[in-house]
Amino acid sequence: MSCHPPASKSLAKFTIPHLREAKRTARPIVAVTAYDYPSAQLADAAGMDLVLVGDSLAMAVLGHTSTLEVTMAEMLLFTRAVRRGLSRALLVADMPFGSYQTTPTRAVANAIRFVKQAGAEAVKLEGPRPEVVRHIVQAEVPVIGHLGLTPQAVHRMGGYKVQAKSNDAIARLAAQAHELADAGCSAIVLEGIPREAAAILTAELPMPTIGIGAGPECDGQILVWHDLLGLSPAAPPRFVRQYLHSADQIRAALADYAADVRSRAFPADAECYHMPRTPEPELAYA
Ligand code: KIV
Repeated sequence: MSCHPPASKSLAKFTIPHLREAKRTARPIVAVTAYDYPSAQLADAAGMDLVLVGDSLAMAVLGHTSTLEVTMAEMLLFTRAVRRGLSRALLVADMPFGSYQTTPTRAVANAIRFVKQAGAEAVKLEGPRPEVVRHIVQAEVPVIGHLGLTPQAVHRMGGYKVQAKSNDAIARLAAQAHELADAGCSAIVLEGIPREAAAILTAELPMPTIGIGAGPECDGQILVWHDLLGLSPAAPPRFVRQYLHSADQIRAALADYAADVRSRAFPADAECYHMPRTPEPELAYA
């Protein structure tokens, strides 16, 4: 396998204070999920501001049917891999289901593990949990909130459904978002809500909103790596724009490789090592 060093960086390191600065100057925040070292290198080289090791990896990488199954140990493993590939982007780790819902003490301990053991610069957690956010922020771990369609609440929601579709529901969501802001959230992900609701929240909140399926008025956008790059065989939801159809390209490349091996077209002579014409002390392996 060949390994290439990360592309040279021209942009300054993106940090937590840059989130509010981006909102203040109306500079859109660009975010994506990533789950491994090469993807992190590519995301960084492409100039992402924020890379989230999302618990979506439960489904996208580990093949589970929801995000509920992924563990702290697994999230730490993938976060460490992404850490090694990033230099500029802000690294945010998603707190998995069960790691922050029981007690604030346990939530703080787990948040600290992401910083200490995996190099995360912030954690993200789902739902209206201002008390938990306050405790984690007091422990010097920045927190990004997540409201709207929160996949860890799939059973309560009865499926992955667009949220906040009435004026009352928008008012409730806004109240929750303000509580998270008061608790010290550095930013908030708004997922699966009407564009109009996200626009209201974005205008009202002091912290930036990062949308996924929440429309263009958000202060930034995030997409899941596999959706953006067309890596999943399933049709993507409406809010996804696929910038590549890599599943098709990868499938075709693998089929070409299989055909070449079966027809003995691979490897060609140029892809072989040969004995030296005159004996050398050692064969170079390069
Ligand atoms: O886990 C994830 O990928 C996320 C994004 C959808 C924001 O939470």
